[in-house]
Amino acid sequence: MKDAFGIPQSVLVLGGTSEIALATVRRLVARRTRTVWLAGRPSPTLEEAAEGLRSQGADVRTVAFDALDPGSHESVLGKVFAEGDIDMVLLAFGILGDQARDEREPMNAVRVAQTNYTGAVSAGLVCARALQSQGHGSLVVLSSVAGERARRSNFIYGSSKAGLDAFTQGLGDALHGTGVHVMVVRPGFVRSRMTAGLEEAPLSTTPEEVATAIELGLRRRTETVWVPGMLRLIMSALRHAPRAVFRRLPI
Ligand SMILES: NC(=O)c1ccc[n+]([C@@H]2O[C@H](COP(=O)([O-])OP(=O)(O)OC[C@H]3O[C@@H](n4cnc5c(N)ncnc54)[C@H](OP(=O)(O)O)[C@@H]3O)[C@@H](O)[C@H]2O)c1
Repeated sequence: MKDAFGIPQSVLVLGGTSEIALATVRRLVARRTRTVWLAGRPSPTLEEAAEGLRSQGADVRTVAFDALDPGSHESVLGKVFAEGDIDMVLLAFGILGDQARDEREPMNAVRVAQTNYTGAVSAGLVCARALQSQGHGSLVVLSSVAGERARRSNFIYGSSKAGLDAFTQGLGDALHGTGVHVMVVRPGFVRSRMTAGLEEAPLSTTPEEVATAIELGLRRRTETVWVPGMLRLIMSALRHAPRAVFRRLPI
């Protein structure tokens, strides 16, 4: 169960090597979180991530999870929930893709869509049902400002995040009143493995800053979190900019 401040005792991360997710879990383990499940594609990086959290005192287990294999989600995630209640699921997997290459090679674009959207629909629904039968818990989903309005420079990734974001909002409404809290997190440019080598965007942030915002969102049971918060205002203006203006913006 969460404590009086909304900090979860047990956490399941989908995308267990995500730098944003690990910064978040490190922060939570330093508070009260004791049990951590890292679900992800088996790799030395996943095991190192687990070891790092163990050295902080957490009880950590890894589980093989592939967003691109939705047919396995029910059994893989079902086994995790069968081991005990999960107070927070952090859906953190995702790929950025390479816009220019993905436009040329549609099967690569499909992979971005299937990972970021289809995989999240499947895993999100499985986790939502399990949380609902517990009657408590939070589902925290890493969306992106890129989903707020598709940009020429990354509309394949952006459209997958738009789908994920809409799905998560709807799921949050469906679970309203059940005791389960659903939170959409919309970071801007985060300096992580995903963006390594890319030109930094204005208002760029760090995994630790996203982690801080997630912790605050859990405490307040917020439904939508922007990181940094200023992006909410900026995107609200950009969302309404005329197409002819928007397409000329250097973003
Ligand atoms: N970085 C940013 O600027 C930014 C901004 C807004 C939103 N986000 C979102 O935040 C989330 C975390 O990003 P991050 O910055 O922490 O990047 P990251 O460190 O690259 O993490 C991405 C995670 O996705 C996992 N993943 C990719 N394909 C997968 C699959 N088929 N099955 C299971 N896991 C898979 C990766 O696992 P492997 O180790 O197996 O590759 C990794 O754990 C993503 O959803 C991203 O879209 C990031």
